[in-house]
Amino acid sequence: MNFEEISELEKRVLVPTYDRMPFLAVRGESCYLYDDSGKKYLDFLGGLAVNSLGYAHPELMAVVRDEGESLLHVSNLIYHPYQGPLAEKLARLTGLDRAFFANTGTEAVEGAIKLARAYARKHHPAEPPASAGALPFERFEILALENCFHGRTLGALSATWPEKYRKPFEPLVPGFKFVRLNDAAHLRESFSPRTAAVILETIQGEGGVVELSEEFLKTAQELCRAHDALFIADEIQCGLGRTGRFFAYQRFGLKPDVVLVAKPLAAGLPLAAIVARDEVAQAFSPGMHGTTFGGGPLQCRLALKVLEIIERPGFLEHVREVGGYFRAQLERLKQDVSIISDVRGEGLMQAAVLSVPGKDIVRRAVEAGFLMNCTQEKVLRFLPPLVIERRHVDQVIEGLRPILASTSDSKTKEVHA
Ligand SMILES: Cc1ncc(COP(=O)(O)O)c(C=O)c1O
Repeated sequence: MNFEEISELEKRVLVPTYDRMPFLAVRGESCYLYDDSGKKYLDFLGGLAVNSLGYAHPELMAVVRDEGESLLHVSNLIYHPYQGPLAEKLARLTGLDRAFFANTGTEAVEGAIKLARAYARKHHPAEPPASAGALPFERFEILALENCFHGRTLGALSATWPEKYRKPFEPLVPGFKFVRLNDAAHLRESFSPRTAAVILETIQGEGGVVELSEEFLKTAQELCRAHDALFIADEIQCGLGRTGRFFAYQRFGLKPDVVLVAKPLAAGLPLAAIVARDEVAQAFSPGMHGTTFGGGPLQCRLALKVLEIIERPGFLEHVREVGGYFRAQLERLKQDVSIISDVRGEGLMQAAVLSVPGKDIVRRAVEAGFLMNCTQEKVLRFLPPLVIERRHVDQVIEGLRPILASTSDSKTKEVHA
């Protein structure tokens, strides 16, 4: 079926949850996607931060072929060779102790919320009501941040800020409070003996690539330590090398109690992990949490290969180097066109904040063969494969320049020589 036939079919038979880009992807190679007509797209969206090693990476394809021919699935009631080594590797990389494998980022968040409640219940049991008729005092509240995104199932959605995602599904899960971004004083005020955990993204992704300040992050960690609440780092979008560090929180030397990873972990197959301190992980016992598919042999073996590649000498340096170059080119572009009001991000998680809505710009970029997306209506977000080179950056910048310069209310400023 061609693009028109597929898009007509989807209009009739899919639940209408996505606005798709107008082409039919049939193959990928390195940082390029190809459509059914052979047109090539330079992918600066990377499958929404999933394809961080690019498409059809030969070492990953070899794992898919080999494992695909031997063992696609065994239930979590049976040992297989890869889950243990992957948990051990994630424990070493985070400095934590144990992992639970889920399938999606949302599921990892959901599991972490349960883990926080289980830990609080075990270590800080409910106190009897202070007076007759009062409720028992229980520790179950989770603090999340304004502008955050943690997922769309009811628990994860309850920890997610934008009203447009939450409102249609209320009532949500009770016990979630939102703290003003980078407002350490508000964080302090929001903490109480009921606080079981703080969950945050070191760099907010869906929220428009918004960085949290060192002061705020360190205050969150200190308050968690002081109250024996869990400090949960959602590294689902910003982790696993994206910022040029293995984990974005490492920039400030933080030590979360729980780290959540997903998106690029198994290079495009569903795999997520909750990595936790031993004492925290022990709040779960057999039967308290589980999933049929989580941590299957093919996914875990792929993830071992992905982590091995990210750990190779020079890999993260490359991300920092190309990320720095990309940032500098975005800053130059900002000088040249009037509709970029800010550039922000770290490594290869970058954004150009526009003074106009970005939807039409993304549409024209896709037409010109460049993939990116727009979040928060005016934020062009770039999450390219971590293997891009400077020449790819140059191509995307030069592809965007005429589109941005000709967008209404933009006036080309004096162009750099
Ligand atoms: C920071 C963060 N947390 C959680 C999620 C949810 O992950 P998933 O879409 O795999 O369920 C996302 C997805 O974009 C995310 O960016």
